[in-house]
Amino acid sequence: MPENTLTITDNRTNRTYTLPIEDGTVRSMDMRKIKTSDDDFGLMLYDPAFMNTASCRSSITFIDGDRGILEYRGYPIEVLAERCTFLEVAYLLLFGKLPNATELKGWISEITHHTMLHETTKRFMEGFRYDAHPMAMIVSTVAALSTVYPEAKNVQDPANRLFQIKRLIAKMPTMAAMSYRHSVGFPYVYPDNDLSYTENFMNMLWKMVEPKYAANPVLARALDVLFILHADHEQNCSTNAMRSVGSSMSDPYVALASAAAALSGPLHGGANEQVLKMLDEIGSKDNVAAYIQKVKDGHGKLMGFGHRVYKNYDPRAKIIKRTAEEVFKVTGRNPKLEIALELERIALEDDYFVSRKLYPNVDFYSGIIYQAMGFNPEFFTVLFAIPRTVGWLAQWDEMLRDTEQKIARPRQIYTGERKKKFLAIEERGG
Ligand code: SDX
Repeated sequence: MPENTLTITDNRTNRTYTLPIEDGTVRSMDMRKIKTSDDDFGLMLYDPAFMNTASCRSSITFIDGDRGILEYRGYPIEVLAERCTFLEVAYLLLFGKLPNATELKGWISEITHHTMLHETTKRFMEGFRYDAHPMAMIVSTVAALSTVYPEAKNVQDPANRLFQIKRLIAKMPTMAAMSYRHSVGFPYVYPDNDLSYTENFMNMLWKMVEPKYAANPVLARALDVLFILHADHEQNCSTNAMRSVGSSMSDPYVALASAAAALSGPLHGGANEQVLKMLDEIGSKDNVAAYIQKVKDGHGKLMGFGHRVYKNYDPRAKIIKRTAEEVFKVTGRNPKLEIALELERIALEDDYFVSRKLYPNVDFYSGIIYQAMGFNPEFFTVLFAIPRTVGWLAQWDEMLRDTEQKIARPRQIYTGERKKKFLAIEERGG
């Protein structure tokens, strides 16, 4: 029997099938050959939540969940976080190679010169209530950009895609900062092209009446590192949304709005906000053991713990923990860190979590840093969405270049009734 094949015997018909194994997978469509009769539809694979389904081929991000390994385009995340800036990593994720000095200079200039928003978008954001959740504002405003750039619908043109990609990477911090300024009733601050990507973001968030905003370099670097860590993560829930919506050839603005909507859920990017709420609920180190017991008794989850892929420590969480120490030297230590460290210490010794391979993930420590930097918990997921915009767009562009990809349209197992007799309303009783 040739190697790299799977032989299946269908005991219903006693027929044997030999299917090719390619890249550790069997093609789901090959299962459709397994039939009980010529008019049989053939076998499907049932995989709720895609626990064991590869939806695409991708060369962007590699994760080894058992070993806690994360690489962007083959470079270990630890090296990139240490040696690169966020826009440098954005270039790597989008173009597949690290830029040289000339390429990086040009890339930074391109992004810098697209940070402004159309004035109608500013007025659109003014329509939100003062207490609108910033993630809901971002989802809505990104979708609204689709009305400003109708040419973005030409998604089959690579040059047009790249133009929209630059616009979105550049404008996400501007929209994010505006959602924050809206929530505190401060006037919007326009971009300052003299500043770096993260310094300009801080400028649009926190500049008051000083003539020129000066970002704290330690905080600006910490934000850059956090953005690098959040930039992509292969086929996570929100990237799946981006690819699925984009597969219908919708424009990148509405597709990215769907990805941001998916990210906002508490089991995904919304977890960092939930972690702070959990630490507030625990209140002090002394209450940690009781809280953990509550989780073990089935009342709620340990937010910021666990991962679909990582069954070891999330490598990003390790780097974030180190970055926290740098930030606290400037901001002062966040007292919540003590509660988080105690939570981690106890959980990692408890068989309930160890047996389920539940370790701190990227969201466990990020919120503690963000809060120390002055962000309120509602804004934490926005800080996730800004850098993940690069990953969503890189995955979207890769999907559109993939000749195997078509409109995403899963099948189902139908469990409802069939061919029911129709009753006129008079005959329905009640
Ligand atoms: C992100 O996919 C990505 O890459 C996402 C992300 C990215 O960069 O894009 O890494 C970002 O979303 C990180 C995850 C942030 N979410 C949270 O921190 C929320 C808390 N975590 C869980 O909800 C959960 O761990 C998930 C959603 C992250 C993963 O869930 P799975 O893979 O569906 O696992 P599961 O729910 O089937 O759990 C397996 C078992 C269950 O127990 P049993 O039914 O077997 O008894 O582990 C338990 C779960 O109850 N469990 C937890 C737990 N997470 C799982 N128990 C307590 N606390 C938790 N956090």
